[in-house]
Amino acid sequence: MTGVDYEAVWSALPIPALIIQDADKIVGMNSAAESFVGASSKQVTGKSLEQFVGSSSRVLDVVRQAAEKSVSVVQYEVEFAWKDKALRTGTLQAAQIGRGDGDLLLLFTPRGLAEKMDRSLASRSAARSVTGMAAMLAHEIRNPLAGISGAAQLLSMNLDEADRELTNLIVGETDRIGDLVNRVEQFGDMRPTSRESVNIHDVIDRTVKLAKAGHAAHVRFIEEYDPSLPPTVGDQDQLHQVFQNLIKNASEAVPPVGGVVTIKTAFRPGVRLTVPGAVAAGLPLEILIADNGKGIQPDLIEDIFDPFVTTKVNGSGLGLSLVSKVLTDHGGVIECDSEEGRTIFRILLPVFTSADVRGVS
Ligand SMILES: Nc1ncnc2c1ncn2[C@@H]1O[C@H](COP(=O)(O)OP(=O)(O)OP(=O)(O)O)[C@@H](O)[C@H]1O
Ligand SMILES: [Mg+2]
Repeated sequence: MTGVDYEAVWSALPIPALIIQDADKIVGMNSAAESFVGASSKQVTGKSLEQFVGSSSRVLDVVRQAAEKSVSVVQYEVEFAWKDKALRTGTLQAAQIGRGDGDLLLLFTPRGLAEKMDRSLASRSAARSVTGMAAMLAHEIRNPLAGISGAAQLLSMNLDEADRELTNLIVGETDRIGDLVNRVEQFGDMRPTSRESVNIHDVIDRTVKLAKAGHAAHVRFIEEYDPSLPPTVGDQDQLHQVFQNLIKNASEAVPPVGGVVTIKTAFRPGVRLTVPGAVAAGLPLEILIADNGKGIQPDLIEDIFDPFVTTKVNGSGLGLSLVSKVLTDHGGVIECDSEEGRTIFRILLPVFTSADVRGVS
């Protein structure tokens, strides 16, 4: 192979990569690694790896093993810390370069989109298993509930103020069960998703207006829309529910004063990730919904897209499950990154194409 510009390959490599000499000295770092660790290659070249990753890091074990035994070592689920930067977990590979003169190539693949996507797809099947039960629940619960509520209201007519408090409680709580039944029933609503051209900005605008007038009156919204964003394809009402749930969650997470929810859209024609059900064109529409709230508890983050997962007193835990179901039905994906003070939901959706006009999917 002549004429290959290895320098260019090295800097184009989308995975963070370092070259390590004598089991510890950093002698090179590609651009992906520079942005991953937040330092330039110049700043770290010639320095000890241990100085950055910490003396007890498993990264060092992997490097030592590879250096001592002159073999390639792969470790999964390695936590990679870099100075005071937050930990990322991923797969670490160390491989000898050339004929064992001591140089090692160290590659780190952070746990990423593919896995998060997998999680969101898995939640979809969990959501589907709720659907069968939903229709039955809705039917079997709604009638007796109306009876209970009606009877309590009749009773209250002949009661004094103190006792009426109790009948009001009954009516209030039956309303709450009624709401829950309605929400669960949405899962049973298996109408085929219509495949119209949908302007995402219109949907978000409508959702934000409603939110500002209601549960998100205390929130400041920052909207940064990419005017070149083409339409997506799907069901406008269902997509409205997606943003409604995400914005509601964000507004519930932010503090009563100083809460900010940022919504950004971008057109990224380069993103060609496809999932089952997605059109071949990939998922170039990106929508970010970020808030400065308390963040999602780390032990919960794996499960938030599953039905009935909630930390809220009056939460049903169905919001994000519905979000994930609707988005995957639309051939899109959603992923989430969260830490205290910064939670970001990232949605990727396909673009409306001429094939959609003809009803081909
Ligand atoms: N933006 C966010 N910031 C912090 N935590 C969040 C955020 N979004 C979701 N969560 C967490 O994920 C959980 C699940 O969210 P989901 O919308 O599915 O249900 P819920 O909001 O609890 O209930 P419901 O949507 O029925 O009101 C929440 O209880 C909350 O702990
Ligand atoms: Mg919610």
